[in-house]
Parts: sequence; structure tokens; C-alpha cells
Amino acid sequence: MPSTLARSPFLLAARGEPGPHTPVWFMRQAGRSLPEYRAVREGTTMLESCMRPDLVVEITLQPVRRYGVDAAIFYSDIVTPLKATGFGVEIKPGIGPVVAEPIRDLAGLDAVRPVTPADVPYITESVQELVSQLGDTPLIGFAGAPFTVASYLVEGGPSKDHAKTKALMHSDPKLWHALADRLADVAIAYLIVQVEAGASAIQLFDSWAGGLSPRDYERFVQPHSAKVFEALSAYDVPRIHFGVNTGELLGLMSAAGADVVGADWRVPLDEAARRIGGKKPVQGNLDPALLHAGWDVLEAEIDRILLEGQAAPGHIFNLGHGVPPDADPEVLNRIVKHVQTASARATA
Ligand code: CP3
Repeated sequence: MPSTLARSPFLLAARGEPGPHTPVWFMRQAGRSLPEYRAVREGTTMLESCMRPDLVVEITLQPVRRYGVDAAIFYSDIVTPLKATGFGVEIKPGIGPVVAEPIRDLAGLDAVRPVTPADVPYITESVQELVSQLGDTPLIGFAGAPFTVASYLVEGGPSKDHAKTKALMHSDPKLWHALADRLADVAIAYLIVQVEAGASAIQLFDSWAGGLSPRDYERFVQPHSAKVFEALSAYDVPRIHFGVNTGELLGLMSAAGADVVGADWRVPLDEAARRIGGKKPVQGNLDPALLHAGWDVLEAEIDRILLEGQAAPGHIFNLGHGVPPDADPEVLNRIVKHVQTASARATA
């Protein structure tokens, strides 16, 4: 890795080292909030677009160009590695991943297998091209964590309460652990393809883990996410872990092996830093709902979050969850500029 990339604000913060300003990027920064995204996606399904390096590169770069964010996130999805092995999954617009044959028994697991690099030449090609075009801006690779991906496979699609998934854990722990272990392997293989092609950090999304009690998380989920982080420890890339509504789980998610822990808006970052032991960088945590609250509100919120983030050895500014499709790109642009300039002044 070139030294200017290694010393980029994002990678410095992710390693808990001081940098020129607090880095900022947004989960779902690529996507429907951008008119240029809607234009290039026309006529192509989400999962088809993930298999076309020309589109993946263009869509990943769009928010970097427009906002000057401190990191790019690879344009893909948490179900892309399953789709790549022939698993029956689609992404329905406005809904999310929908699975043709939900997992009900051990035999159903046969359809779930990790990718080999030969399954996903378009991922390797897209990452390599992105890394060369991004220069000193880091590329974040990502995967879905075993619980969040399992919830789609067991429920058959998005779910609010994850009732079937929770029932399966408790009623058939053997099947649950076999499924989660397989999905850990799916995430590991997919992350390694991205890292070996040049991604300089990874994020493991356990978006829906916040629906679990700490007790169930520790017993049914943490060992499988820990397997993913452990497998990636062989690479010199910061590992970020994130979920929504995970205030009660932050310590356990950190202990799973993350280097950086993301929090949503429900927990102030100084408190989040304390819950993960005070020694790791944090990521977050502006409430996406406030994107519509007007600049005065946003500016005060950003300044508060920057201050609270100082309680951790590193802070990567982000929203508490993804950019909503109706977000105004001009507002996001202003947030990026404000985070970068206000945090530079504060440390100068
Ligand atoms: O900018 C980025 O963050 C990069 C790309 C990215 C996408 N999905 C693209 C996408 C990432 C990191 C994801 C991860 C993902 N996918 C997660 C974890 C992150 C999170 O938001 O918690 C989850 C739970 C999924 C599953 C999924 N895929 C959902 C819930 C949806 C939304 C469905 C909808 O239409 O509202 C998708 C589709 C999806 N993934 C889109 C994008 C840009 C929208 C597809 C479109 O444009 O039609």
C-alpha cells in the first residue's frame, strides 16, 4: 500500500492514530439518493449491476466525486456472494433481498456455499480498477454478518421481528449453528477476495443483530462473527463492525474481534467508546432522520458528535444507518465539508 494511502485520514482514524481531520463517509452513500446513480442503473437490476465492473466502478466513485468523502465503499450487496454461487435470491426494489427457497433444514444448507475467486472475477476486476482510480482514498470492502444474512435466508425476505430466525436458534440450535458457520465461511471468502484485490479496510454489517438480547447474541451469533474477524486478522486491514440498535451489544460486538465499532444515534459516541472498553475507534452516528431538519440543527448535531467522538482514540464520522433514498445530496455535501473543516480547526 502506498504510504500516502496508509496515512489517509480514514486509515489513521481506523488505527486510532491522530490525523489532519475526522474522516467522513456514509453507509449507502452510493445509491438512490443520487440522480447520477438512478441514471446509470436504468434498465439493470441491482444484482446484475453488481456483476458489471463498469457499473460497479462508476457507482462506487459517484459519491467520492460529488462529496469528497474520505473513503469509498464497494458497490455490491450482502447477498451478492450467494447470488454468485447460484443461490436463488433477488433484490426487490423498495423491499430488499427475497429468497426463493428459505432454509428450513440441513438439506437446504447444500445450496449455501462460499465463493471461490473463479466465481467472482468481476469482483476482483472491479476492486482492482477502483483501487487504481481512487489513489489515496481508501476502499472499504464489506460483507453481511452471519446473523443478518441468515435472517433473510430463514425468513425468506426482510422481517421486522426476525421471529422465524429467533425461533430456529432456540428450537434447532444444531441447524442454526451449521447455517451461521456456513455463512461465516461465505463472508470470509467474499471479504478475502476484496482484500486480496486491494480493499484497504473491511466492514462486517450485522445490521439486524440489535433485535437480539445480549444473552442470545453471545450464544448464537458472536462466535460466528468472531470466526469472520479472526480469519481476516491475517491481513493488515482495519475491521469495522456495525449494526442498528446495538446499544446493549456494543461490548459483545467489539469482543467479537472488531478494530472499529459503529454505533447508531441511540448511544452517544462517548458512551459507545466506554462500552467497548475505551481503547478502540468508533464510527457514527448522525441520525439520518435529521437530514431533513435544516442546517442549524445539523450543524449543532455534527459538532456534538465530533466532540463526543473525541472520547475514543479515533472517530470516523458516519450516519447512524444508511443514507435514505430521499436524502438531499446538497445536504450530504455540506455535512462532509463541515466535518472536515470543523474537525481540522479543532485539532489545529
Ligand atoms: O454505498 C453503499 O453503502 C454501498 C453499497 C451497499 C448496498 N447494500 C447497495 C444497495 C451496501 C454496503 C449494502 C449492504 C446491505 N444490503 C445491508 C447492510 C447495510 C444496511 O443498510 O444495514 C443490508 C441489510 C442489505 C440488504 C438490502 N439490499 C436492502 C435492505 C436493500 C434495500 C431495498 C430497497 O430497495 O429499499 C438492498 C438493495 C440495495 N443495496 C440498494 C443499494 C444501492 C438499492 C437497490 C436499488 O437501487 O434498486
